[in-house]
Amino acid sequence: MKTQIVIIGGGPSGLLLSQLLHTRGIESIVLERKTKDYVLGRIRAGVLEHGLHEMMREAGVSDRIDAEGLPHDGTMISYGDERFRIDFEALTGHKVMVYGQTEVTRDLYAAREKAGGAIEFNVEDVQIHDADSDAPYVTYRVGDERRRIDCDYIAGCDGFHGVSRQAIPLSKRREFEKVYPFGWLGILSETPPVHHELIYANSPRGFALCSMRNANLSRYYIQCSLSDKPEDWTDDAFWMELKRRIPSDFVKELVTGPSIEKSIAPLRSFVTEPMQYGRLFLCGDAAHIVPPTGAKGLNTAASDVYYLYHALREFYGTGSKAGIESYSTKALARVWKAERFSWWFSSLLHRYPDQSEFDIKMQVAELAFLRSNEAAQKAMAENYVGLPY
Ligand code: FAD
Ligand code: DHB
Repeated sequence: MKTQIVIIGGGPSGLLLSQLLHTRGIESIVLERKTKDYVLGRIRAGVLEHGLHEMMREAGVSDRIDAEGLPHDGTMISYGDERFRIDFEALTGHKVMVYGQTEVTRDLYAAREKAGGAIEFNVEDVQIHDADSDAPYVTYRVGDERRRIDCDYIAGCDGFHGVSRQAIPLSKRREFEKVYPFGWLGILSETPPVHHELIYANSPRGFALCSMRNANLSRYYIQCSLSDKPEDWTDDAFWMELKRRIPSDFVKELVTGPSIEKSIAPLRSFVTEPMQYGRLFLCGDAAHIVPPTGAKGLNTAASDVYYLYHALREFYGTGSKAGIESYSTKALARVWKAERFSWWFSSLLHRYPDQSEFDIKMQVAELAFLRSNEAAQKAMAENYVGLPY
């Protein structure tokens, strides 16, 4: 087989890239290790920057998000019983959109299927060959059959545990990592959200986040120990702990109910440099991970897709390789800013096992400063709604 771009990974980055390329007549084949239902079953991000929303419009997949997405023009931050609001719209002129990653992926699959896009599911043993030559190719197995695709370029959109990053020789890449000493226990419940905006809560018992997917679907998270297992937490125990971490007037509004999903995610900051090796480009979680605080994971994956899509569009449209050659530099410049924001916002809101009384005073002072200082709020809001591409 032959195509222009082989895309490894059918998560949000791979699908968005494939759909955007399709709008410009650039052909791709997506290789996904799992089934479509498996990919759609993963509950992950929920807040989309305006830049990702714009890209969905450009990709022709925005009908549902335009109709059903929840525009949010601010967020609440609490510490103990204190709380304040950051007004994104007033500070930056932008909003974010609350719309689940599951729905983004569903819309993209529907569009790829409608366009007759090539997606191979259940692929095994994907291998990248000759990425540093002018004739790269990818091999993989479906059942007992081994297949080969020759291509111009390869997009590694296969997440943190994929094969693409490993295809860059160790002598050519550097990795930077910070592992956090706690996780997030998240639940989804068919209950109305406690508040019409998200609540990021710093409390003496640890972080909590009240989020949502729609008017009758809430997403809540609490900081937990890395040794905890989701089955250790009954729904009652979860709700009780959440109530101890958010301001008391919100507790009164909280509607509880059975969880329909419960999972624990570890927190990690990770970046690999460069994000490019010959004709192989890394996109999204394949190249970098952020702790979820501030919802930058999916959004940073989307900014990589933006740079790569524009680079490939330029190449196939004009023959210029300028965008292709600067992909890694441009993508990393924005990635590191998202890493900084996610690390800062995580540090501001969590309890750390080795935190001293002084460290806690510093957190409270920083929260009080953020509460009262417009310049600090503007910096937070600009990062939250998404830095320019
Ligand atoms: P992925 O979504 O990981 O997609 C990669 C795809 O590649 C997967 O479908 C995988 O099956 C496939 N794949 C892997 N290896 C291979 C292979 N060898 N061959 C073929 N296919 C392969 N972000 C937020 O902003 N907010 C959140 O609340 C949040 N929660 C998260 C919870 C968890 C448990 C995780 C893991 C991530 C979370 N994130 C969150 C991050 C966000 O979901 C990711 O940044 C986003 O999914 C990145 O998209 P991606 O397409 O780059 O990678
Ligand atoms: C969600 C997750 C986040 O990490 C965040 O900062 C905001 C919202 C969510 O899943 O809804």
